[in-house]
Amino acid sequence: MKINGKVHCFFEQSGTFKNEFRKLGYEAYDYDIQNNHGETDYVIDLFAEIEKAYSGEVSIFDAINPDDLIMAFFPCIHFCDAKTLFFKGEHISQRNWSLAKIMGKNVQLAKERECFFEMLMKLVAVVSKTISDLLLKIRGIQVVEHTCKIISSNPP
Ligand SMILES: C[S@@+](CC[C@H](N)C(=O)[O-])C[C@H]1O[C@@H](n2cnc3c(N)ncnc32)[C@H](O)[C@@H]1O
Repeated sequence: MKINGKVHCFFEQSGTFKNEFRKLGYEAYDYDIQNNHGETDYVIDLFAEIEKAYSGEVSIFDAINPDDLIMAFFPCIHFCDAKTLFFKGEHISQRNWSLAKIMGKNVQLAKERECFFEMLMKLVAVVSKTISDLLLKIRGIQVVEHTCKIISSNPP
């Protein structure tokens, strides 16, 4: 894959990928809501930016060119295997929980998961309008991988 523009590492604060891209000679930046490693170039609420872009408002996406690459490390906490164990009430920390407590927690987790899933779908929708290639791999969400395959095989 050839990258002709800049590299935007979304949801990265460690600089891990950003610095590898820089070693290869690319102009690369980290975007995250936190800066625990001193590597976040843009401390920004990306969820708020996704909402703005999805609603057609001015957002950070306006400064990203079709030649650029966005590498998004979207928060996967609600989609990982450990969270699935929670839904089943089989996580080790739940061993003494009543069924009522497990279900009560599930109500909260389901709402949070839906919120993150919606945000992810909006990110894919927003980015697919401006960027021709989307590298987005989310553990546990087959539909997203499928969506991305569709996008990458049918660039706008
Ligand atoms: C799975 S971690 C990825 C970390 C990355 N691999 C790294 O090396 O820094 C998800 C990241 O998303 C960030 N994050 C969560 N909500 C965010 C938001 N609304 N806007 C921007 N970043 C957010 C977290 O701070 C966290 O660094």
